[in-house]
Amino acid sequence: MSTHVTPPQRRKFLFTMLGGIGALIGAASAWPVFRFLAPSDADSGSDQVLVPRGDVVAGKAHFFQYRGKPAVIMQPSPGSFIALSAVCTHLGCVIAWQEQAGEFLCPCHGGRFSADGQVLGGPPPKPLESLVVQIDGDQLKIG
Ligand code: FES
Repeated sequence: MSTHVTPPQRRKFLFTMLGGIGALIGAASAWPVFRFLAPSDADSGSDQVLVPRGDVVAGKAHFFQYRGKPAVIMQPSPGSFIALSAVCTHLGCVIAWQEQAGEFLCPCHGGRFSADGQVLGGPPPKPLESLVVQIDGDQLKIG
């Protein structure tokens, strides 16, 4: 029995090993991209969220999670409430409330939204998604 490995056999073994290592590196690199593009598991979260009415102060934005994604509720006038997705309709960044200006600003590309979610400027193609709000005693039911 010969243990001698010929150069073509060695070359074939090395190419096979390099191919396997390359495939592993490719899969490891693609995994974060796949996780980013795949829908979040949190999307299957509860359809209704309760927010204590006292947490929503006129002129301020109260952020919370709705179906695993950021959302915001406002009280534009006493006793009336508006809930919106806090995910920018341009590329999905989370908006921030600008109390002085009375509008939302997207920190990624400068998209601006009114307090009721309408586009005021920048690249967002459509208004923020509106969420249903129901008043239930001291609680606000969203969704
Ligand atoms: S992601 Fe909001 S303006 Fe681009």
